[in-house]
Formats: sequence, structure tokens, C-alpha cells
Amino acid sequence: MAAAARLRRRLLLEVPWRWRCSPRRDGAACPSAGQIRAAFLRFFEERHGHRRLPSAPVRPRGDPRLLFVNAGMNQFKPIFLGTVHPRSELAQYRRVVNSQKCVRAGGKHNDLEDVGRDTYHHTFFEMLGNWSFGDYFKEEACSMAWELLTEVYEIPRDRLYVTYFGGDPSLGLSADEECRDVWLHLGVPASHVLPFPLKDNFWEMGDTGPCGPCTEIHYDHVGGGRNAAALVNQGSPDVVEIWNLVFMQYSREVEGNLLPLPQHHVDTGMGLERLVTVLQNKRSSYDTDLFTPILDAIHKVCRAPRYQGLVGNADVGRVNMAYRVVADHVRTLCVCITDGIYPGFSGAELVLRRILRRAVRFCSEVLQAPPGLLASLVPTVVEVLGDAYPELTRNANQIKDILNENEAAFLSSLERGRRIIERTVQQMEPSTNFPAEVAWSLYGSLGFPLDLIDLMLEEKGISLDSAAFNKLALEDAKRKAGGPQAGQTGTANTRLDVHSLAWLQGSSVPTTDDSPKYTYTLGLHGQYEFSPCQATVLMLYKDQSLHKEVGAGQRCGVILDRTNFYAEQGGQDSDQGYMIRLGQQDVLFPVESVHLCGGYVIHEVTAVETLRAGDQVQLFVDEAQRLACMRNHTATHLLSFALRRVLGDSTEQRGSHVTAQQLRFDFDTKGHVTVEQLQQVEQVVRDLIQKNEVVHMAEVPLTLARRVQGLRAVDEEYPDPVRIVSLGVPVENVLTCDSKAAMQTSVELCCGTNESRRKVNPF
Ligand code: ALA
Repeated sequence: MAAAARLRRRLLLEVPWRWRCSPRRDGAACPSAGQIRAAFLRFFEERHGHRRLPSAPVRPRGDPRLLFVNAGMNQFKPIFLGTVHPRSELAQYRRVVNSQKCVRAGGKHNDLEDVGRDTYHHTFFEMLGNWSFGDYFKEEACSMAWELLTEVYEIPRDRLYVTYFGGDPSLGLSADEECRDVWLHLGVPASHVLPFPLKDNFWEMGDTGPCGPCTEIHYDHVGGGRNAAALVNQGSPDVVEIWNLVFMQYSREVEGNLLPLPQHHVDTGMGLERLVTVLQNKRSSYDTDLFTPILDAIHKVCRAPRYQGLVGNADVGRVNMAYRVVADHVRTLCVCITDGIYPGFSGAELVLRRILRRAVRFCSEVLQAPPGLLASLVPTVVEVLGDAYPELTRNANQIKDILNENEAAFLSSLERGRRIIERTVQQMEPSTNFPAEVAWSLYGSLGFPLDLIDLMLEEKGISLDSAAFNKLALEDAKRKAGGPQAGQTGTANTRLDVHSLAWLQGSSVPTTDDSPKYTYTLGLHGQYEFSPCQATVLMLYKDQSLHKEVGAGQRCGVILDRTNFYAEQGGQDSDQGYMIRLGQQDVLFPVESVHLCGGYVIHEVTAVETLRAGDQVQLFVDEAQRLACMRNHTATHLLSFALRRVLGDSTEQRGSHVTAQQLRFDFDTKGHVTVEQLQQVEQVVRDLIQKNEVVHMAEVPLTLARRVQGLRAVDEEYPDPVRIVSLGVPVENVLTCDSKAAMQTSVELCCGTNESRRKVNPF
């Protein structure tokens, strides 16, 4: 006991700042968030023998159901599940402490739409946690937590309430009296020790697996000697949970019953933002030093009135909400990009794209900030979080580039979208809902997040026709699920029937010039630049017949004289995007898919207004989607080459399916493929990517192309002349009779679109 007291004195003496910031100590310096985080880690590491581990990246490893890491325990799941290899490092852990980067947006824990509306929701937060893996249990876990809160952080005991599991007769579980008694022995008065049912105090990792009762510590922001027990777990902003201590002692079986676990574990989680709010004597985390530097930096750039913490009607013009949205979202963006999640098209990437677009919208429309605000905040985020997560400091420049690139893409759409909403609202009958088709084209063609559309409409006091919108979304999902597979053509409006084709040919309607699909170049800074394309509507196709006019609200196939859209072929998904009629900038005709039929490129379009043959249109390809396809397409070339190199020349590609989200590669080879061979294939691909060589492309006569030794082609029909794509070696070098180039690098016949980090040969 004397030794423990000495240790405590030493630790307290070493703490070079005053912890408590109670009103009675006005004027005393508050501990910074960095000091609070550091003290947590030091307390468990130095005082209680825990091993300090770095935060895992927010991109989850080996858990496809999880979009983002959302709790400290995610990286320790294999220990709880007992699947950890006994000789692995993980299996050696007994006591562990860390501060984990967590994101809750999308999926089960989705706070995205609440962020900004109130003063306490976040998409990114830090979870401080300590763990015992088969080591200490309830008594030590509670006493360490109590010691830290009351003796190191000096939180007044009478502001704290603890809860424990009150039992569940239907599961045959009695109340966790062991836990209750631990708290009473620690000196917590009985009036502050409260039982709660399963829903509040029994924590489960999933439908099956380790689980157990938990005990939570709550803090009363008001205090003043009152008893706030009745406000615990009632959603009051005055009494908030700060720490959850889970005692893993059961296993939930498939049948639903609970069996005692052979080993007991402890898993705890305390939200740093909430703890800092308490210790800095604030009522909102946005008023702590985790956020104030970012809010100040926003103010400096945009010159909007300073952040005042206002919400609801008091927050005139939603300026305070905008401050919170931008400050929260830029932290999330920085952390995710650093950990390899980039704004994109599915899963976590799609959620991040929505976060970015939501932030950009508030920057530009509410705060009237110049472009580049988000990127300009990166150094401040690094200043706030960089000490704890040094990877942020290392990636600062990359984060800025990605933010700027994505912001620029969205800003151009945003302006157009705003005008579309205004124009539509002007034409609406009073007290009607905003038409779902227009919202759908904003969502699908301009990439507007749905909550952003809702928000823009809410500001105008109108609502979306949600039922009709959901119907469109369902139809789209169905279409995609049963949608075109590799090698198939699309729907009834894009598959020209034999009579229509004959009529087009007989009437000398020229086939579509689709060469503009390749008119992209690589700019000086590595970004792709796509040229705009202007075209004339030649004919419309609907319900298996050709038309000169298609009325508003109808879906049809549009045949153009020229196009820069890539039509689905060779296993690569078609482009998406939209077209506008010249001189009518605000009406977007979404292009949902594009197909090739007898040399005619058919664009599947929703005619938001009447479309006519002869209309002049301007075409906009969704560049981000195209780029993602290009990357995946080039990856199939690398994979094809690597497979032959590792598995031998008898390996043949049988097909592939390239989308913005993924690629699938089908091949035949002799015998079965071992794990080692797959690892070698992966290494060859990685090395090729690392070399970052130029992708060369040229059109050559098919007969000449077929003579190239080692050239890869799939068993399908190629046009004549055909494109050859080669990696690192100019196509003319590949074509010379004695060249062995095609044996040493990837050379393929190709109809797709490719990506090259350094240069794309124009042709
Ligand atoms: N895993 C527990 C939680 O997330 C500590 O609340």
C-alpha cells in the first residue's frame, strides 16, 4: 500500500500540468488534449504494466463487413474469437493500451447526417482503451479506471455515476453483483451505482461470439451537489457516458444461448473528445482544443462571423453548423486518406466521397470560402493530431492534393446542381414535392449525396418525393444486379433490333465516331484531362423502334454522330455521365450506360425534357468513374502478364470484367495454382506498378498485330486496325520482326481505356 502511494505521488509529481479545470479553479491552465491523451497512455503503460500499441489504420483488415474501424477492439477481434495463432505476436498480448482512430459514418454506426446539426456528433473520434487478455478482470479494471479519473484527472467523485448489468431472466443471467460490489468497495456511494438492462449494459461484438456485461462511467456536467442519477442513460446532454468497460465472459452460440468463456477478457473504450470536454470544462467538444484551432483557421480564410456554438434557429444562415461540418469532416478526410481510403465509388470510399462533398458544399455555399479551404486546413489538422498519429504529418501533401482534386471536380457540378434545383423549384406547383427524377439525376449524374439534396431542399422549405426516389433507386439497383455482364449488350432501349439496324444502314445514317473517347491527356502534375465533346442527336430508340422525338420523363437510347463516352465492351463497364442541350445549361440528361451495336453507340438516357433528332448536345463523362475503370483495366494487363510469367505460356485469359470498383480476371492454366504462385503473381504486379512505366498505345493493321510473338489477345473479335497496348516499350519497337519485347513485358490487343501514370500517347 505504501509502495502504491509512493508510486502515485511520483506519477502525480511528474505530471507537469494541473489536470482539473473545475469552475472553482478558474484561471488555472487547462490540460491540452495532447496532454490528456498522453496521460491516459502513460498511466496504463507505466503505472499498470500495459504494452502501448499504435492505432490501427481506419481501413479495417480482414473484416469485409466493416466499412471503417469503429472501436479500439477491432484489431483485437482474433484474440477474443480465439482464432489467433498461438505463436503470433498478438497471442502474446496480456495488457494493452492505445488510442485508436475511429470513424463512424455509413453502416451500423452512422452519424454522418447528424454531424453539424448539434454540438457533439462526430464522424472521426479517438477511442482511448485498455485491454486485458486473460489477465486482470472486473476488480482491477474498475479500480484502474476510478484511479485515473479521480486521482490523475482529478474529476470530482460526486459528478461520476457508474452503471452495471441488472440481469436478464429470459437469458438466465443474474445481475452483475460482482461489478456492483467492486464499485461500492471503491467508495462510490450506492446512489451513484445504478443497474441497467441488457440493452444498455450488455455488450456483444456481433450476432455470435464473445460478449459480456459492461459497466459505464457517466459524468454530470451540471454538478453543484445535485443527484443526477435519474438522467443517466436518458439521452440528456448534461449527463454523458464517458467510458465503457466490457467484461468478456460469455460466448453467444449460433442457437442464441450463452456459454461461459474459458478465458475472461476486458475491453474498454473512452471517447477522447468527451473526456477533453470534461477536463477543459466545456460543454461541447467543438469548444476544446481538438477543434478550436481548426475553427479559427476556417475563420481566417473565409471571414464568416466567428464560431459561436449556436444550433437550430439561433444559428442564422447555418454558419455555425457549417463550421462544425467542415471541422469534423476535414479531420475524417485527413485520417482516411492517410490510411489509404480515397474518395471513390463503393463501400468506405463512397462514404468518404459523400463526406468530402458535404464539406465542400458547406465551405462554398454557407461559408462563401474560396476553393482550397479544405486543403488549407490540413496543416492545422496535422498540428492537432500529428503528434499522436505521425503518419498524418508524413502524408500531408498527398492529402492536400487529393482534397483539391476532388473539390475542383465537385465544385463545377455543385454550381450546376444549385441552378437545377432553383429552376425546378420555380416551376413547381405550390405544396408539391420536389420531383424524384430531378433529384435522381443530381444524385446519379452529378454525384450529389442524398443528404445534401435533402439539405438544399430543406433550406427552401420543400421536401423530396422520397417514395418515388426510393423506387428509382430500387429500379437502378435491380438493373445493376441483373445488368450487363462481360460481353453482353444492355437493355431494350440500347439493343438495336435487326429492323432498326437495317433502317439506319439503309438510310445512310453514319455510324458513331467514338474516337473522342480517347482524347484524354496527362497534365504536367499527373492529372488526366478529358476534352469536352459536342455532338448531334441523329436518332432516338425506344421500345424497339426508332423515333425522331421522345417526350419528357421517358427513358430511351440516344444515337449521336460522335461521342466521348466509352461503350461497354471487352469486359469493361461503360462510362456514365450526362449530356446537356446547347444553350440550356441547367437541364441534365443523365447517361446511365452506353452500348455499341453495329457501329452505332447508343446512350441510355432519361429524357428529363423532350429530346429531338437534330438537338445539339455537349457530353460530360463522369471522369472519376472513367479513371477508376482505366486503373482497373490496366491492372488486368499487368495481371495477365504476371500470370503467364509465373504459371507459364499455357496460361490463357478467358475473360475479364472491369468496373470502377473492381476487376475480375478469368484464366485457364495447367494444374492447380498454389498460394506461393499467387504471391509471386502479386509481387510481379506490384513491381510493375512500382516501375511506373509509360503505357504506349497505337493502332496497327490486325494482320501485322497478330504476327507479334508473345502478344496477348482474348478469343474475341477485334476491329481492324486494332489497338496495341504495351508497357514500357513503344509499340513500333514491339512490331519489328526480331523483337522479343512482347515476351518481356505486357503487350496486348486492347479495346479498353488504360491508365498510365506518366504519359498517354495521343492518337
Ligand atoms: N468495445 C466497447 C465499445 O466500443 C468498449 O464501447
